[in-house]
Amino acid sequence: MIKLIKSTFYRERETKDKLTNFIGRTSQLSFGPECEKFEKNFAEYQGRKYCIFFNSGSSANLALIQALLNSGQLKPGNEVGFSALTWATNVMPLIQLGLRPVPIDIELDTLNISSKKVTESLKNKGLKALFITNLLGFCHDIDQIKKICQDQNMILIEDNCEALGTVYKGKKLGNFGLASTFSFFVGHHMSTIEGGAVCTDDKDLAKMLRIVRAHGWDRHLEEEEKEELRAKHRVKQFHAQYTFYDLGYNLRPTEINGFLGNEQLRHIDKIIQKRNQNFTQLAKTIYANRAFIPLRHSHIDMVSNFAFPVLCRSQGDHDRLVKKLKNKLEIRPIVGGSMILQPFFKKHNRDQTETSSCPNAEFAHRNGFYFGNNPELTNSDLKIITALVR
Ligand SMILES: Cc1ncc(COP(=O)(O)O)c(C=O)c1O
Repeated sequence: MIKLIKSTFYRERETKDKLTNFIGRTSQLSFGPECEKFEKNFAEYQGRKYCIFFNSGSSANLALIQALLNSGQLKPGNEVGFSALTWATNVMPLIQLGLRPVPIDIELDTLNISSKKVTESLKNKGLKALFITNLLGFCHDIDQIKKICQDQNMILIEDNCEALGTVYKGKKLGNFGLASTFSFFVGHHMSTIEGGAVCTDDKDLAKMLRIVRAHGWDRHLEEEEKEELRAKHRVKQFHAQYTFYDLGYNLRPTEINGFLGNEQLRHIDKIIQKRNQNFTQLAKTIYANRAFIPLRHSHIDMVSNFAFPVLCRSQGDHDRLVKKLKNKLEIRPIVGGSMILQPFFKKHNRDQTETSSCPNAEFAHRNGFYFGNNPELTNSDLKIITALVR
Protein backbone atom coordinates (compact mmCIF):
# COMPACT_ATOMS: atom_id res chain seq x y z
CA MET A 1 0.00 0.00 0.00
CA ILE A 2 1.41 3.40 -0.97
CA LYS A 3 0.25 5.75 1.76
CA LEU A 4 -0.83 9.39 1.38
CA ILE A 5 1.96 10.48 3.71
CA LYS A 6 5.17 8.52 4.14
CA SER A 7 6.84 10.44 6.95
CA THR A 8 6.36 13.29 9.41
CA PHE A 9 9.51 15.11 8.30
CA TYR A 10 11.89 15.26 5.40
CA ARG A 11 14.98 13.36 6.65
CA GLU A 12 12.88 11.89 9.44
CA ARG A 13 15.57 10.13 11.55
CA GLU A 14 18.04 13.03 11.46
CA THR A 15 15.28 15.56 12.26
CA LYS A 16 13.98 13.52 15.20
CA ASP A 17 17.51 13.16 16.61
CA LYS A 18 18.10 16.89 16.31
CA LEU A 19 14.73 17.61 17.92
CA THR A 20 15.49 15.32 20.87
CA ASN A 21 18.79 17.09 21.36
CA PHE A 22 17.14 20.52 21.12
CA ILE A 23 14.50 19.64 23.73
CA GLY A 24 17.24 18.39 26.06
CA ARG A 25 19.29 21.56 25.87
CA THR A 26 16.75 24.39 25.58
CA SER A 27 15.49 26.26 28.60
CA GLN A 28 12.36 27.53 26.83
CA LEU A 29 9.73 25.55 24.98
CA SER A 30 6.95 28.14 24.73
CA PHE A 31 7.08 30.80 21.94
CA GLY A 32 10.60 32.21 21.85
CA PRO A 33 13.77 32.73 19.82
CA GLU A 34 13.39 29.66 17.54
CA CYS A 35 9.91 30.85 16.49
CA GLU A 36 11.21 34.35 15.88
CA LYS A 37 14.13 32.99 13.89
CA PHE A 38 11.73 30.94 11.79
CA GLU A 39 9.58 34.00 11.11
CA LYS A 40 12.62 35.80 9.79
CA ASN A 41 13.77 32.82 7.73
CA PHE A 42 10.36 32.08 6.27
CA ALA A 43 9.67 35.72 5.36
CA GLU A 44 13.00 35.75 3.56
CA TYR A 45 12.24 32.48 1.76
CA GLN A 46 8.81 33.70 0.66
CA GLY A 47 10.09 37.14 -0.29
CA ARG A 48 7.77 39.02 2.04
CA LYS A 49 8.60 41.62 4.70
CA TYR A 50 6.76 39.92 7.56
CA CYS A 51 5.91 36.38 8.61
CA ILE A 52 3.73 35.74 11.65
CA PHE A 53 4.02 32.14 12.83
CA PHE A 54 0.89 30.34 14.13
CA ASN A 55 0.06 26.95 15.58
CA SER A 56 -1.78 25.85 12.39
CA GLY A 57 -2.86 26.97 8.95
CA SER A 58 -6.43 27.13 10.23
CA SER A 59 -5.31 29.48 13.00
CA ALA A 60 -3.52 31.62 10.41
CA ASN A 61 -6.76 31.89 8.42
CA LEU A 62 -8.80 32.76 11.51
CA ALA A 63 -6.27 35.34 12.69
CA LEU A 64 -6.04 36.98 9.29
CA ILE A 65 -9.80 37.51 9.08
CA GLN A 66 -9.92 38.72 12.71
CA ALA A 67 -7.05 41.14 12.03
CA LEU A 68 -8.84 42.60 8.99
CA LEU A 69 -11.97 43.05 11.13
CA ASN A 70 -10.03 44.58 14.02
CA SER A 71 -8.42 47.08 11.66
CA GLY A 72 -11.76 47.97 10.05
CA GLN A 73 -10.71 46.81 6.58
CA LEU A 74 -13.58 44.32 6.76
CA LYS A 75 -16.87 44.94 8.54
CA PRO A 76 -19.35 42.37 9.85
CA GLY A 77 -21.83 41.55 7.10
CA ASN A 78 -19.38 42.17 4.25
CA GLU A 79 -19.51 39.66 1.43
CA VAL A 80 -16.29 37.75 0.89
CA GLY A 81 -15.71 35.49 -2.12
CA PHE A 82 -13.93 32.18 -1.66
CA SER A 83 -13.05 29.17 -3.82
CA ALA A 84 -15.92 26.67 -3.64
CA LEU A 85 -13.42 23.81 -3.77
CA THR A 86 -11.27 24.26 -0.69
CA TRP A 87 -10.70 23.23 2.91
CA ALA A 88 -13.35 23.85 5.58
CA THR A 89 -11.23 26.14 7.75
CA ASN A 90 -10.72 28.47 4.83
CA VAL A 91 -14.41 29.42 4.87
CA MET A 92 -15.31 28.72 8.52
CA PRO A 93 -13.64 31.88 9.89
CA LEU A 94 -15.76 33.98 7.52
CA ILE A 95 -18.91 32.51 9.04
CA GLN A 96 -17.57 32.50 12.60
CA LEU A 97 -16.65 36.17 12.40
CA GLY A 98 -19.91 37.42 10.93
CA LEU A 99 -18.98 37.84 7.28
CA ARG A 100 -21.04 36.53 4.37
CA PRO A 101 -19.19 33.86 2.42
CA VAL A 102 -19.82 33.80 -1.33
CA PRO A 103 -18.65 30.62 -3.06
CA ILE A 104 -17.00 31.08 -6.45
CA ASP A 105 -16.89 28.12 -8.79
CA ILE A 106 -13.60 26.67 -10.01
CA GLU A 107 -12.38 25.88 -13.52
CA LEU A 108 -12.18 22.16 -14.19
CA ASP A 109 -8.86 22.38 -16.02
CA THR A 110 -6.98 23.89 -13.04
CA LEU A 111 -9.29 23.22 -10.04
CA ASN A 112 -8.87 26.91 -9.16
CA ILE A 113 -11.02 30.00 -9.55
CA SER A 114 -10.40 32.26 -12.55
CA SER A 115 -10.84 35.96 -13.36
CA LYS A 116 -13.84 34.88 -15.48
CA LYS A 117 -15.57 33.22 -12.53
CA VAL A 118 -14.80 36.22 -10.29
CA THR A 119 -16.28 38.58 -12.90
CA GLU A 120 -19.43 36.42 -13.10
CA SER A 121 -19.75 36.48 -9.33
CA LEU A 122 -19.38 40.26 -9.23
CA LYS A 123 -22.50 40.62 -11.39
CA ASN A 124 -24.63 39.47 -8.45
CA LYS A 125 -22.54 40.33 -5.40
CA GLY A 126 -20.74 43.37 -4.06
CA LEU A 127 -17.69 41.56 -2.79
CA LYS A 128 -15.50 43.42 -0.33
CA ALA A 129 -12.74 40.84 -0.40
CA LEU A 130 -11.61 37.61 -2.02
CA PHE A 131 -10.06 34.86 0.10
CA ILE A 132 -8.94 32.51 -2.64
CA THR A 133 -7.33 29.10 -2.29
CA ASN A 134 -4.36 28.15 -4.45
CA LEU A 135 -5.52 24.58 -4.59
CA LEU A 136 -2.98 21.76 -4.72
CA GLY A 137 -0.16 23.90 -6.06
CA PHE A 138 -2.16 25.11 -9.06
CA CYS A 139 -3.59 28.48 -9.99
CA HIS A 140 -5.62 29.75 -12.92
CA ASP A 141 -4.95 33.40 -13.86
CA ILE A 142 -4.28 34.86 -10.42
CA ASP A 143 -2.54 37.90 -11.97
CA GLN A 144 -5.84 38.82 -13.65
CA ILE A 145 -7.76 38.18 -10.43
CA LYS A 146 -5.37 40.57 -8.70
CA LYS A 147 -6.07 43.16 -11.40
CA ILE A 148 -9.83 42.86 -10.87
CA CYS A 149 -9.32 43.29 -7.13
CA GLN A 150 -7.26 46.43 -7.70
CA ASP A 151 -9.83 47.87 -10.14
CA GLN A 152 -12.76 47.07 -7.85
CA ASN A 153 -11.00 48.07 -4.64
CA MET A 154 -11.39 44.56 -3.22
CA ILE A 155 -8.97 43.04 -0.74
CA LEU A 156 -7.21 39.97 -2.13
CA ILE A 157 -5.92 37.40 0.34
CA GLU A 158 -4.56 33.98 -0.56
CA ASP A 159 -4.92 30.70 1.28
CA ASN A 160 -1.60 29.30 0.13
CA CYS A 161 -1.62 26.30 2.49
CA GLU A 162 -1.40 23.97 -0.52
CA ALA A 163 0.91 25.86 -2.83
CA LEU A 164 4.10 26.74 -0.98
CA GLY A 165 6.79 27.05 -3.64
CA THR A 166 4.60 27.27 -6.74
CA VAL A 167 5.87 29.94 -9.12
CA TYR A 168 3.49 31.59 -11.60
CA LYS A 169 4.76 34.16 -14.10
CA GLY A 170 8.01 34.48 -12.18
CA LYS A 171 6.33 35.14 -8.82
CA LYS A 172 5.67 32.79 -5.90
CA LEU A 173 2.02 32.11 -5.14
CA GLY A 174 1.27 33.72 -1.82
CA ASN A 175 2.70 37.02 -3.06
CA PHE A 176 -0.24 38.22 -5.15
CA GLY A 177 -2.49 39.62 -2.41
CA LEU A 178 -2.34 41.73 0.72
CA ALA A 179 -1.49 38.63 2.74
CA SER A 180 -1.29 34.87 2.40
CA THR A 181 -1.58 31.92 4.75
CA PHE A 182 0.50 28.73 4.97
CA SER A 183 0.18 25.37 6.71
CA PHE A 184 3.05 23.31 8.05
CA PHE A 185 0.93 20.34 9.03
CA VAL A 186 2.38 16.85 8.48
CA GLY A 187 2.06 15.94 4.83
CA HIS A 188 2.14 19.54 3.62
CA HIS A 189 5.23 20.80 1.78
CA MET A 190 7.22 21.13 5.00
CA SER A 191 6.15 19.96 8.43
CA THR A 192 6.49 21.49 11.88
CA ILE A 193 4.01 18.77 13.02
CA GLU A 194 1.33 21.44 13.45
CA GLY A 195 1.99 24.98 12.32
CA GLY A 196 0.98 27.80 10.03
CA ALA A 197 1.87 31.34 9.05
CA VAL A 198 0.64 34.57 7.54
CA CYS A 199 2.97 36.50 5.25
CA THR A 200 2.47 40.13 4.29
CA ASP A 201 4.36 43.30 3.40
CA ASP A 202 1.91 45.44 5.38
CA LYS A 203 3.44 46.59 8.69
CA ASP A 204 0.14 47.51 10.34
CA LEU A 205 -1.44 44.19 9.40
CA ALA A 206 1.60 42.33 10.74
CA LYS A 207 1.26 44.25 14.02
CA MET A 208 -2.45 43.42 14.28
CA LEU A 209 -1.77 39.74 13.52
CA ARG A 210 0.68 39.63 16.44
CA ILE A 211 -1.95 41.20 18.69
CA VAL A 212 -4.57 38.68 17.49
CA ARG A 213 -2.19 35.73 17.89
CA ALA A 214 -1.69 36.23 21.60
CA HIS A 215 -4.60 37.38 23.74
CA GLY A 216 -4.93 40.82 22.16
CA TRP A 217 -1.86 42.09 24.04
CA ASP A 218 1.26 43.78 22.70
CA ARG A 219 4.08 41.54 23.89
CA HIS A 220 5.41 40.51 20.51
CA LEU A 221 5.30 43.94 18.94
CA GLU A 222 8.34 46.04 18.23
CA GLU A 223 9.36 48.36 21.09
CA GLU A 224 8.20 51.53 19.36
CA GLU A 225 4.84 49.92 18.48
CA LYS A 226 4.36 49.02 22.14
CA GLU A 227 5.23 52.51 23.28
CA GLU A 228 2.82 54.03 20.79
CA LEU A 229 -0.05 51.79 21.90
CA ARG A 230 0.67 52.30 25.59
CA ALA A 231 0.81 56.07 25.16
CA LYS A 232 -2.37 56.16 23.09
CA HIS A 233 -4.29 54.20 25.74
CA ARG A 234 -2.49 55.88 28.67
CA VAL A 235 -1.40 52.57 30.09
CA LYS A 236 0.61 52.68 33.31
CA GLN A 237 3.80 50.63 33.47
CA PHE A 238 2.25 48.33 36.09
CA HIS A 239 -0.53 47.29 33.68
CA ALA A 240 1.49 47.36 30.45
CA GLN A 241 1.99 43.61 30.17
CA TYR A 242 -1.66 42.95 30.93
CA THR A 243 -3.46 45.39 28.69
CA PHE A 244 -5.55 43.84 25.92
CA TYR A 245 -5.89 46.14 22.93
CA ASP A 246 -8.09 44.25 20.52
CA LEU A 247 -9.88 40.95 19.94
CA GLY A 248 -7.53 38.00 19.97
CA TYR A 249 -6.96 34.35 20.75
CA ASN A 250 -4.08 32.21 21.83
CA LEU A 251 -2.79 30.75 18.55
CA ARG A 252 0.91 30.66 19.39
CA PRO A 253 3.22 27.92 18.18
CA THR A 254 5.90 26.45 20.46
CA GLU A 255 9.68 26.39 20.25
CA ILE A 256 9.39 22.78 19.07
CA ASN A 257 7.51 24.00 15.99
CA GLY A 258 9.97 26.86 15.54
CA PHE A 259 12.99 24.56 15.76
CA LEU A 260 11.44 22.13 13.26
CA GLY A 261 10.56 24.97 10.90
CA ASN A 262 14.15 26.18 10.84
CA GLU A 263 15.43 22.63 10.27
CA GLN A 264 12.96 21.74 7.50
CA LEU A 265 13.31 25.08 5.76
CA ARG A 266 16.97 24.21 5.07
CA HIS A 267 15.68 21.45 2.76
CA ILE A 268 12.71 23.23 1.22
CA ASP A 269 14.20 23.67 -2.26
CA LYS A 270 15.07 19.96 -2.47
CA ILE A 271 11.63 18.94 -1.15
CA ILE A 272 9.85 21.09 -3.74
CA GLN A 273 12.10 19.98 -6.57
CA LYS A 274 11.48 16.30 -5.82
CA ARG A 275 7.72 16.76 -5.61
CA ASN A 276 7.77 18.77 -8.82
CA GLN A 277 9.69 15.97 -10.59
CA ASN A 278 7.18 13.37 -9.34
CA PHE A 279 4.28 15.53 -10.45
CA THR A 280 5.69 16.18 -13.92
CA GLN A 281 6.48 12.52 -14.49
CA LEU A 282 3.07 11.28 -13.32
CA ALA A 283 1.16 14.02 -15.16
CA LYS A 284 2.63 12.93 -18.50
CA THR A 285 1.02 9.51 -18.37
CA ILE A 286 -1.97 9.96 -16.08
CA TYR A 287 -3.32 13.11 -17.73
CA ALA A 288 -2.87 11.51 -21.18
CA ASN A 289 -5.57 8.99 -20.24
CA ARG A 290 -8.84 9.97 -21.90
CA ALA A 291 -10.82 8.73 -18.91
CA PHE A 292 -9.50 11.73 -16.95
CA ILE A 293 -9.81 15.48 -17.40
CA PRO A 294 -6.23 16.66 -17.89
CA LEU A 295 -5.15 19.36 -15.46
CA ARG A 296 -3.48 22.23 -17.26
CA HIS A 297 -0.20 23.39 -15.78
CA SER A 298 1.90 24.64 -18.69
CA HIS A 299 1.09 28.24 -17.65
CA ILE A 300 2.76 27.66 -14.26
CA ASP A 301 6.57 27.96 -14.04
CA MET A 302 6.88 25.51 -11.14
CA VAL A 303 4.05 23.39 -9.74
CA SER A 304 4.63 22.63 -6.08
CA ASN A 305 2.03 20.31 -4.59
CA PHE A 306 1.85 17.56 -2.00
CA ALA A 307 -0.85 15.51 -3.70
CA PHE A 308 -1.75 14.52 -7.23
CA PRO A 309 -5.36 15.22 -8.25
CA VAL A 310 -7.29 13.04 -10.69
CA LEU A 311 -10.67 14.02 -12.16
CA CYS A 312 -12.59 11.14 -13.75
CA ARG A 313 -14.89 12.07 -16.60
CA SER A 314 -17.49 9.57 -15.42
CA GLN A 315 -18.77 8.59 -12.00
CA GLY A 316 -18.47 4.97 -13.14
CA ASP A 317 -14.70 5.33 -13.67
CA HIS A 318 -14.39 7.09 -10.33
CA ASP A 319 -16.16 4.29 -8.46
CA ARG A 320 -14.22 1.62 -10.36
CA LEU A 321 -10.91 3.23 -9.38
CA VAL A 322 -11.91 3.69 -5.74
CA LYS A 323 -12.45 -0.10 -5.62
CA LYS A 324 -9.37 -0.96 -7.65
CA LEU A 325 -6.98 1.16 -5.57
CA LYS A 326 -8.21 -0.10 -2.20
CA ASN A 327 -5.28 -1.40 -0.12
CA LYS A 328 -2.88 -0.56 -2.97
CA LEU A 329 -2.78 3.23 -3.24
CA GLU A 330 -4.26 5.42 -0.51
CA ILE A 331 -6.61 8.01 -1.99
CA ARG A 332 -9.07 10.60 -0.67
CA PRO A 333 -11.50 13.26 -1.97
CA ILE A 334 -9.95 16.37 -3.50
CA VAL A 335 -9.09 18.53 -0.46
CA GLY A 336 -12.45 19.14 1.32
CA GLY A 337 -14.63 18.84 -1.77
CA SER A 338 -17.25 21.47 -2.57
CA MET A 339 -17.99 23.53 0.52
CA ILE A 340 -21.58 24.01 -0.64
CA LEU A 341 -22.18 20.29 -0.15
CA GLN A 342 -20.73 20.22 3.36
CA PRO A 343 -23.18 20.01 6.30
CA PHE A 344 -21.58 22.92 8.19
CA PHE A 345 -22.07 25.22 5.20
CA LYS A 346 -25.68 24.19 4.67
CA LYS A 347 -26.33 24.80 8.37
CA HIS A 348 -24.57 28.11 8.86
CA ASN A 349 -24.64 29.90 5.54
CA ARG A 350 -27.14 32.69 6.08
CA ASP A 351 -27.61 33.26 2.34
CA GLN A 352 -28.50 29.68 1.51
CA THR A 353 -31.35 30.51 -0.82
CA GLU A 354 -29.13 32.98 -2.67
CA THR A 355 -26.08 30.75 -3.00
CA SER A 356 -25.58 30.08 -6.66
CA SER A 357 -24.60 26.54 -7.51
CA CYS A 358 -21.00 25.69 -8.32
CA PRO A 359 -21.28 22.79 -10.77
CA ASN A 360 -17.55 22.40 -11.39
CA ALA A 361 -16.72 22.21 -7.68
CA GLU A 362 -19.54 19.70 -7.30
CA PHE A 363 -18.14 17.67 -10.21
CA ALA A 364 -14.69 17.60 -8.56
CA HIS A 365 -16.36 16.62 -5.27
CA ARG A 366 -18.04 13.60 -6.84
CA ASN A 367 -15.64 12.56 -9.61
CA GLY A 368 -12.26 13.48 -8.15
CA PHE A 369 -9.68 11.94 -5.86
CA TYR A 370 -6.05 12.48 -4.96
CA PHE A 371 -3.07 10.45 -3.84
CA GLY A 372 0.05 11.68 -2.05
CA ASN A 373 3.01 13.25 -3.81
CA ASN A 374 5.89 13.25 -1.39
CA PRO A 375 9.67 13.39 -1.68
CA GLU A 376 10.02 9.79 -0.48
CA LEU A 377 8.21 8.29 -3.49
CA THR A 378 10.64 5.88 -5.17
CA ASN A 379 10.91 5.11 -8.87
CA SER A 380 9.24 1.82 -8.15
CA ASP A 381 6.33 3.66 -6.40
CA LEU A 382 5.95 5.94 -9.42
CA LYS A 383 5.79 2.90 -11.74
CA ILE A 384 3.21 1.19 -9.54
CA ILE A 385 1.08 4.35 -9.39
CA THR A 386 1.21 4.81 -13.17
CA ALA A 387 0.18 1.19 -13.69
CA LEU A 388 -2.67 1.44 -11.17
CA VAL A 389 -4.25 4.80 -12.03
CA ARG A 390 -5.81 3.96 -15.38
C1 LIG B 1 -6.44 25.09 1.69
C2 LIG B 1 -6.22 24.81 3.14
N1 LIG B 1 -6.39 25.79 4.03
C3 LIG B 1 -6.20 25.60 5.35
C4 LIG B 1 -5.80 24.37 5.84
C5 LIG B 1 -5.64 24.20 7.30
O1 LIG B 1 -4.32 23.95 7.67
P1 LIG B 1 -4.00 23.23 9.06
O2 LIG B 1 -4.27 21.77 8.87
O3 LIG B 1 -2.56 23.51 9.30
O4 LIG B 1 -4.88 23.82 10.08
C6 LIG B 1 -5.63 23.31 4.96
C7 LIG B 1 -5.26 22.00 5.50
O5 LIG B 1 -5.00 21.02 4.89
C8 LIG B 1 -5.84 23.52 3.57
O6 LIG B 1 -5.69 22.53 2.70
